[in-house]
Amino acid sequence: MYNAHYHRFTIFLTACTFLLIVAGALVTSNDAGLAVPDWPTSFGNWVKIPPMVGGVKYEHGHRMVAQFVGFLTIVLAVWTQRAETRAWMRKLAWAMLGLVMVQGVLGGLTVLMLLPWWVSTLHAMAAQTFFSLTMLMAVFASRRWLDAEPSPVEDGGSVSLRVLSMAGIAVVYVQLFLGAGFRHQGMHFLPHVIGAVAATGLLIRLSVRALSGFGTIRPIKAAASSILGLLFLQILLGFGAYLTRVEWGRDAVQPQLSMVLTTVGHVAVGALLLAHCFLLAVQAYRHTLPARGDSVRAEKAAAA
Ligand code: HEM
Ligand code: HEM
Repeated sequence: MYNAHYHRFTIFLTACTFLLIVAGALVTSNDAGLAVPDWPTSFGNWVKIPPMVGGVKYEHGHRMVAQFVGFLTIVLAVWTQRAETRAWMRKLAWAMLGLVMVQGVLGGLTVLMLLPWWVSTLHAMAAQTFFSLTMLMAVFASRRWLDAEPSPVEDGGSVSLRVLSMAGIAVVYVQLFLGAGFRHQGMHFLPHVIGAVAATGLLIRLSVRALSGFGTIRPIKAAASSILGLLFLQILLGFGAYLTRVEWGRDAVQPQLSMVLTTVGHVAVGALLLAHCFLLAVQAYRHTLPARGDSVRAEKAAAA
């Protein structure tokens, strides 16, 4: 049953998590990951807020927003446990609490281990996964989701929207991994550029398929058009990030404002893109049936 307070709370959590992603990206872009050298304390203190100067304002600020989101996630788990009748929602909420805790530990570890690229990259990937889950929660708690009685439609394509949407999620994850690997100085830039070409091709195919085949189904149309718009914006920001970080930023002594804005924007829009791919996949599973091609392929795979 629809619960307006709970729904509003999930939207609030989504908004706070988005701010947290921006706050985290500001830490990386301002090179402030080690501005506070200890963890779980900050300059040896559990509660006292250190002077918020230089990189400390980003690093400690990020920790404070993270603590708040962690607290909200505890509220989410307990509230969902008490008020939600769908068992899978209760499980999802507890899983999210587990994920936010792992994420906090990864954040601490990357500080204690002096920012190894793979720990920072894992931290970046878990962050966007958590954000996507908050957004899905808000959708699952919405009136439209709860009141609608979906009657899934046939999928006449050779590859179903279901399969394409899962591939969309996968390609954005690969792109996130390659982007974060480069951002945290563990990888070259070329794989991310090749990934961008593949991701762009696949996401255009996915959205065009969704719009042309299922454009009358509102949630599918909304998610697919958002993906197209976000993809366009993400590519622009990507070029901006490349110019400001790699070309113009080569000799910069301090992080330049133009670099901070484009790279933080690229991380934030990347998170929105991933979340919308999840959203489209969820709606594809709700409103469409597997295509005939899927079962033929599955049979072939089983026979092989
Ligand atoms: C609990 C939820 C948290 C979320 C969702 C989150 C999210 C993020 C995000 C999105 C970034 C930017 C990654 C990038 O730009 O590639 C980041 C960076 C960072 N976060 Fe968190 N974070 C969380 C908790 C923490 C905690 C508790 C710490 C404790 C120290 C922490 C420390 C850091 C550091 C040091 C960086 C910069 C890493 C680097 O420059 O290599 N985070 N975080
Ligand atoms: C097609 C879709 C694309 C997606 C989904 C994507 C996603 C991402 C993400 C999520 C990150 C940061 C990961 C993190 O640390 O949190 C990143 C980093 C980066 N991306 Fe992309 N990207 C795309 C296209 C591009 C393009 C076309 C370019 C440039 C031509 C580009 C240039 C960069 C650069 C330069 C960075 C590193 C920024 C830095 O050093 O701070 N990206 N990308």
